[in-house]
Amino acid sequence: MCGIVGAIGERNITDVLIEGLRRLEYRGYDSAGLAVVHGGAIERERQPGKVQALADATHASGVSGQIGIAHTRWATHGAPTQDNAHPHQSGDIAVVHNGIIENYEALREQLQAEGYVFTSQTDTEVVPHLIQSELKKGGDFMAAVRRAVAQLHGAFALGIVRATEPQRLLAVRQGSPLVVGLGIGENFISSDQLALLPVTNRFIYLEEGDFIELKRDQVTIWDASGAVIARPSVELDATVHASSKGTYKHYMLKEIYEQPAAIQRTLAGRVSNGQVAIDAFGPQAAELLSKAKHVQILACGTSYHAGYVAKYWFEAIAGVSCHVEVASEFRYRTTVLPADTLLVTISQSGETADTLAALREVKSRALGSLCICNVPTSTLVRESDLAFITHAGPEIGVASTKAFTTQLVALMLLVLATGRRQGNLTAERERDIVAQLAGLPTLCDEVLAMDQAIERIAAEFGDKHHTLFLGRGAQYPVAMEGALKLKEISYIHAEAYPAGELKHGPLALVDQDMPVVAVAPKNDLIDKLKSNLQEVRARAGVLYVFADHAADVRAEPGIKVFSMPSVADEVAPILYTIPLQLLSYHVAVIKGTDVDQPRNLAKSVTVE
Ligand code: F6R
Repeated sequence: MCGIVGAIGERNITDVLIEGLRRLEYRGYDSAGLAVVHGGAIERERQPGKVQALADATHASGVSGQIGIAHTRWATHGAPTQDNAHPHQSGDIAVVHNGIIENYEALREQLQAEGYVFTSQTDTEVVPHLIQSELKKGGDFMAAVRRAVAQLHGAFALGIVRATEPQRLLAVRQGSPLVVGLGIGENFISSDQLALLPVTNRFIYLEEGDFIELKRDQVTIWDASGAVIARPSVELDATVHASSKGTYKHYMLKEIYEQPAAIQRTLAGRVSNGQVAIDAFGPQAAELLSKAKHVQILACGTSYHAGYVAKYWFEAIAGVSCHVEVASEFRYRTTVLPADTLLVTISQSGETADTLAALREVKSRALGSLCICNVPTSTLVRESDLAFITHAGPEIGVASTKAFTTQLVALMLLVLATGRRQGNLTAERERDIVAQLAGLPTLCDEVLAMDQAIERIAAEFGDKHHTLFLGRGAQYPVAMEGALKLKEISYIHAEAYPAGELKHGPLALVDQDMPVVAVAPKNDLIDKLKSNLQEVRARAGVLYVFADHAADVRAEPGIKVFSMPSVADEVAPILYTIPLQLLSYHVAVIKGTDVDQPRNLAKSVTVE
């Protein structure tokens, strides 16, 4: 999704801007641009496609300056062309924008009537014209920006420079992420601190409604009420956040292989003597978990699938009723929350617009809100009553992998803590499941050793157009996650069904050209699942089954079986996710897609 970088210093800052954009590439984008102030004028470079194209054009044209803004654009209004790429300009003003201006059509008509000429189809272009229009009415640059922003509806972050005021860069955070990076004699803004790690490890996390003035040696912040406010700065251990592909061909593969270590980090310090440390969820967690009579989980995409697995766990293990819903639906419908509902949001980034909006919408009606998140400095963490950080480490591949399995581990800890506080879980069962969680890293290693066998069969999916993923019980959301992974990185249509639903419709699709993938650990439903697989086989469907020895699924022509290690039923969804990640990865590599940055997708979905 769109990314912003801005810098002011004494040196030429174009390299800082471009390196910052490179570090935002993982978020997904389709064009890039920058604007610097040089000799009293705005100089701009914008290119469709990769940041490298922008870097080449910038170096060829020799654009340079000591203050500038830059942007990666993920197209919403208008195609990914040069004209639509940011920064957008109006006279001496240039603007980069992340988010959506919802009332841009009305503003555009108003500004056109005032004589402003538009050169793009974007919603963003109204912003520089509006600031320009306000400047003509008098007052200084910041006052004009304030008056302009007051007319904008929607969620956004802005970076703004003015050719005639090269000593200051202005910025606004109103619903989209933005951080300030503090340097020595230079300062920065970005939508993600990762972009600024080469230049600083000191950050100020902004609040909604903040206006920021960045000078070389001074940062001033005004809060939503207009008062100057001192926000604390935080020093990060940069090595923790450093991320490179190492010897792996793609970030996604690296992140799949990081899962044993990531799971260990999620557990570290959160369990001891066979018990979950309830305080790991925050000081008021014990009280909240005792009082909760219902759990409502809200999330999007892969994080929603994690929540879906947890729904099975909450009811079966903690004895507490649980609903799960995609945040984009929940936020816009009239909802009735049962009394004493604990709200649980799940998000890798903590910046997903729909999840944040759903939290804000419902928070006041809930008993309390708890988020499970990978980014401790994110908005979701700051706006939730309680937060549990998964410690998966930076996830760069757009397709979520280690974030998902660590979310599942975190959710199981929450389920155990809830079960204990509700009096529905014996100490023995808790100890048992904690031991299963502790054993997961070793089992994950065993599954990762299946990589080559999975790679070999991936070729059989390369020319297929549709795939079906089947699971039952808590393995159904695992099948959903497997289908999502395959479609997002290999562009093969994939659907997941609870296997019992097959005969109610999807069986009509099954033939020899539609591979059917099933997750089939030995559990109470295995015999039912095996009957469903026979229904597929009877229609010439080719089956790829991930099953443990005890499940006793026999390989035969048309049924390929991948032998999974035995694992306790409770934590099996975590383990069975991994072969499906590997399968999608290898199919995508065979298809030659952009594995880490699949087309049309963004890592951090900061617009609705
Ligand atoms: C899929 C994927 C997305 C995200 C979704 C929510 O691989 O990564 O479906 O899970 O956009 O993102 P977060 O978890 O950051 O809220």
